[in-house]
Amino acid sequence: MTPPPARAFTLLGIETSCDETAAAVVERDADGKGTILSDIVLSQIEEHAAFGGVVPEIAARAHVEALDGVVRAALKDAGKDLGNLDGVAVTAGPGLIGGLLVGVMTARAVAAARGLPLLPLNHLEGHALTATLTDALAFPYLLLLVSGGHTQLVAVEGVGHYRRLGTTVDDALGEAFDKTAKLLRLPYPGGPNVERAAGSGDAHRFALPRPLKGAPSCDFSFSGLKTALRIEAEAHAPLSDDDVADLAASFQAAAVEVVEDRTRAALERFLDAVGSEPTALVVAGGVAANESIRARLTALCDKAGIRFVAPPPRLCTDNAAMIAWAGAERLAAGLAPDADLPARARWPLDEAAAPLVGAGLKGAKA
Ligand code: KG4
Ligand code: ZN
Repeated sequence: MTPPPARAFTLLGIETSCDETAAAVVERDADGKGTILSDIVLSQIEEHAAFGGVVPEIAARAHVEALDGVVRAALKDAGKDLGNLDGVAVTAGPGLIGGLLVGVMTARAVAAARGLPLLPLNHLEGHALTATLTDALAFPYLLLLVSGGHTQLVAVEGVGHYRRLGTTVDDALGEAFDKTAKLLRLPYPGGPNVERAAGSGDAHRFALPRPLKGAPSCDFSFSGLKTALRIEAEAHAPLSDDDVADLAASFQAAAVEVVEDRTRAALERFLDAVGSEPTALVVAGGVAANESIRARLTALCDKAGIRFVAPPPRLCTDNAAMIAWAGAERLAAGLAPDADLPARARWPLDEAAAPLVGAGLKGAKA
């Protein structure tokens, strides 16, 4: 398909798929260069902390209360009103359905009030295209997305062209970090606290498994690692501070080793799957903030002679700038999604990929 004539686009983006209420305004000029004019992220961490995880019902209510103000603040910060926009992009899935509905209904109302195009987008596409905003990266590249809800290796071949090379068959890596923290009685959110505790621990004290290491696929599995950790923790209860540090360090070492191995497998498979070498390895998702993971992936890329791109942490975790940008990229490519797409909890980025862990009425589970 020939893209439409080059022109600039300014979009409002809205993101409410998990526990962040976010809105942003992003401009894409006719040459494809992006500028974030505003980027508001209101975290609900405090509302969920007492429960040790995100409670969907609480998240949906908090989005209802906060979203109008967050959208207003994003427009004000950007110095724009609705009349200056070329469209409203919103996360329509995957995620927690209550929050998604709040975002989609709000975006629909804003777009209808001003006769603007509505672009319901896949949240994962926002993560996938962030590197073209932050680093003007050329296609194709390999994306490692590691967050609380997702663990995937995706070949990003172009706007709207995503090929999933690997995914988790059970837990997401961030979820495994969070469950480890809970088991070790470290505070929520778990990832940063497990990393901190691991800093003073002995990673060799507990021999934990490295699930799927060396497997021919590029898939991940973390539930066996989680169970092995629980068995060790129960065997040593009550845990001293040293035990907690050693368990955290042993868990993190296993996780890092698996991530490195699975990413190496995807890099090796990339050329065959895509037809050309990747321009870079890009990381995204909250777990990409982990220093040990970053260091190991940097070393892997150095060795393979591949560029390593880690967008600023603020743009690696959930935000609305990536949604506005993905919307602008789609408009520029002449690939605007159907405005009537409904919110959906499950929505694989690569819809052609065979479901790994089964499919229900609403589509593939992973
Ligand atoms: O991308 P994100 O902010 O939200 C979504 O899940 O979409 O990712 C949050 C996840 C949580 O599971 C959190 O524990 C994990 O990222 N995380 C980390 C670190 N910082 C955040 N995991 C390991 N090490 C970290 N430093
Ligand atoms: Zn995300």
